[in-house]
Amino acid sequence: MKILVLGSGAREHAIILSLRSEETEHEIFAAPGNAGIAQDATIVDLDMFDGAAVAAFANERGVDLVVVGPEAPLVAGVADVVRERGIPVFGPGKAAAQLEGSKAFAKRIMDAAGVPTGRAVRAASVAEVGAAFDELGEPHVVKADGLAAGKGVIVTTDRAEALAHAEHYLPSGPVLVEEFLTGPEVSLFFLSDGDTVRPLAPAQDFKRALDGDGGPNTGGMGAYTPLPWLAEQFGSVDAFVDEVTETVALPMIRQLDSEGTPFIGLLYAGLILTPAGVRVIEFNARFGDPETQVVLPRLRTPLSRLLLASASGTLEDEPRPEFSDDVAITVVLASEGYPEAPQTGRMIEGLAEAASVDGVSIVHAATGAPDAPGGSLIATGGRVLNVVATGTDFADARARAYEAIGRIRLDGAHYRHDIAARVAQ
Ligand code: AMP
Ligand code: GLY
Repeated sequence: MKILVLGSGAREHAIILSLRSEETEHEIFAAPGNAGIAQDATIVDLDMFDGAAVAAFANERGVDLVVVGPEAPLVAGVADVVRERGIPVFGPGKAAAQLEGSKAFAKRIMDAAGVPTGRAVRAASVAEVGAAFDELGEPHVVKADGLAAGKGVIVTTDRAEALAHAEHYLPSGPVLVEEFLTGPEVSLFFLSDGDTVRPLAPAQDFKRALDGDGGPNTGGMGAYTPLPWLAEQFGSVDAFVDEVTETVALPMIRQLDSEGTPFIGLLYAGLILTPAGVRVIEFNARFGDPETQVVLPRLRTPLSRLLLASASGTLEDEPRPEFSDDVAITVVLASEGYPEAPQTGRMIEGLAEAASVDGVSIVHAATGAPDAPGGSLIATGGRVLNVVATGTDFADARARAYEAIGRIRLDGAHYRHDIAARVAQ
């Protein structure tokens, strides 16, 4: 197949590596990509927000499938334009992508579909925010309504801090004040063709910057899969996945379809397992990052087949995707100062040594070409690289991942040391 992947992060690199690991060889294009993606795909000069240009390129080159990685082009409606030109595209249109683009929209669909989530109040002024705090109690959870790259949410017992967060976002529209939910978090991805859904394997993301879940929220500092502890609570991991399919994914997909906005792409359910049951914290309209980097290496069913079936409305013909019994973990290497003020432009060394560790692959998030030919790659953003390790158990995978990340040199870089530590004991 000829496949065009839009995006420039580790998620897109992981998707491309998964496509390349298939028995069938594909011709893969990427825009805009990064220095790591450039080693595994042909970079094309395309504006991923320009749907007409993406469709024109796809038509000209006979591309069979366009995969939209990040949320921003989805929310901007790029998938609609490409789909209207008759090209299969994996990614929801602008209307369905509002599931991620607007927390208020997501809450409305959840309410209409009867999907379990925290109680929330929409507040348009500081006074309304204060009243919502009184009603919902502590700790306070405030969410900006639009896309905020993981920075729109605050959870705190400090009322003044919560109010200040709300005040920061109020000028651009109402915020959501939500009931505080407590319990372990799970990310579960569903492929959808608008009608049928197929679950992938549950994973857990580490959102805070520092060991022990300290420091600020980030885009994600690591992840692991599978989640063996789900079996203790639900009897088996499959039982958990079945429950979420029936009570969360299918009702959402049906509700969106009934409103004339079918969801074609990846429905990301961000869940919290509270003592009262599973609750949805958020939906995203695309593969999660960094969870994708651990979920896809365990996927046995060819990814290209699943993405094309989703994009073409034939997911019903596909059996449930299969996963290997291996475990996978990823540790994110971040630039000095991430997430507040990442220092970029520094040289990265030791990548080949890191990649030579058994079971390890290096997935690039924000890397750029060297300043001079033959030189070292440059860090171009906050989250720079993902070291992904598979193994027969978590102790094994952790040993590999940390051995590999220790071999990478980037001045001032930091990473968490406790990814999957709890499940490795
Ligand atoms: P979100 O961007 O909605 O995924 O929120 C980011 C993080 O904030 C989540 O992963 C949770 O750790 C936390 N969070 C969001 N909503 C709640 C809530 N209602 N109760 C407790 N924690 C929450
Ligand atoms: N891992 C969080 C996200 O992809 O939004």
